[in-house]
Amino acid sequence: MAKTQRIGILTAGGDCPGLNAAIRGVAKTAIMKYGMEVYGISDGFLGLINKEYIELTEKRVSGILTLGGTILGTSRVKPFKKKSNGDSAISKPELIKEHYEQMGLDCLVCIGGNGTQKTANRLSQEGLNVVGIPKTIDNDVYGTEVSFGFDSAVYIATEAIDRLHSTANSHKRIIVIEVMGHNAGWIALYAGVAGGGDVILIPELDINIDNVAKYLEERAYKNKDYSIVVVAEGVAPERKKKSAAQYIAKMISSRTGLDTRQTVLGYTQRGGTPSPMDRILATRYGSATVDLIANNDYGKMVTLRNDTIVPVPLDEIAGKLKIVTEDHPLVKKAKAMGTCFGCNGMPEDKKDS
Ligand code: F6P
Repeated sequence: MAKTQRIGILTAGGDCPGLNAAIRGVAKTAIMKYGMEVYGISDGFLGLINKEYIELTEKRVSGILTLGGTILGTSRVKPFKKKSNGDSAISKPELIKEHYEQMGLDCLVCIGGNGTQKTANRLSQEGLNVVGIPKTIDNDVYGTEVSFGFDSAVYIATEAIDRLHSTANSHKRIIVIEVMGHNAGWIALYAGVAGGGDVILIPELDINIDNVAKYLEERAYKNKDYSIVVVAEGVAPERKKKSAAQYIAKMISSRTGLDTRQTVLGYTQRGGTPSPMDRILATRYGSATVDLIANNDYGKMVTLRNDTIVPVPLDEIAGKLKIVTEDHPLVKKAKAMGTCFGCNGMPEDKKDS
């Protein structure tokens, strides 16, 4: 009688809507389709270091599809980070390998962003059977068109921008809203376009604040009563202690004299129930992961390409970032409609005039 395969799942890095949908997708496919056993490991890689886990039965994952956060907990513990003097003699990776064996795992499913997939790849190189699932609101995991968590964050940010239009209009103000995204501008780009942002500032494009000021003055001159400026948190690294929104708002008001306010959306973008698209994507990723495990196909991360789940080798994606490029179709379309990205030179639609 072949040994029942046993899967360990962990969620690591920043939390986001859809994590529980992914856990459920893995667990229900493993149990219902393949009769496998599933262990849920606590708090990311920390749970492997401390050997903290619970069995995930069908009952345990019932009702978690719509839950925000992660029932397993998460952490940003990086096992391969160089040891600090307080650490035990045995290295964290060695502990992880030991506990992986003691738990009788046949495979480890790592649900997380760039840092998590980098660790997953290192563990794979150390001989563990590993499969990665791309998760982050930032959507900056290389190799996949979209990570789950992104659609929910764009929805939350867009809803916030929608609300800012009415208050900016009532007061004839410029309102700067900062969204998350770490060093990528995906949330700002998508929510900025979806929310009708007049200015969208992302870290990937070089921003000339004088262009932004000139654009906003022109809008005011043409009696556009208010403007919405959407800023990714990673812009203007020279801002030091100020938030990106504070820094940009100050630069705008000092250059234009226009009445300006700012809002930092923050962790609301990571909270609450996942959007339907994230529930579907997380479920598809989870289910496809178990099919890979059933075929002993390890060392991969599941990705989405042309609406198809494609497994790619972890060493092809580990440590790489997916960032917005100036020739991205959405950037070009927004520019053509007159949206300002603060780039040097005039927006696309002004070039011919
Ligand atoms: O990676 C997701 C994310 O929300 C980023 O957008 C943000 O910069 C970062 O996590 C915040 O990290 P923490 O949750 O550790 O404060």
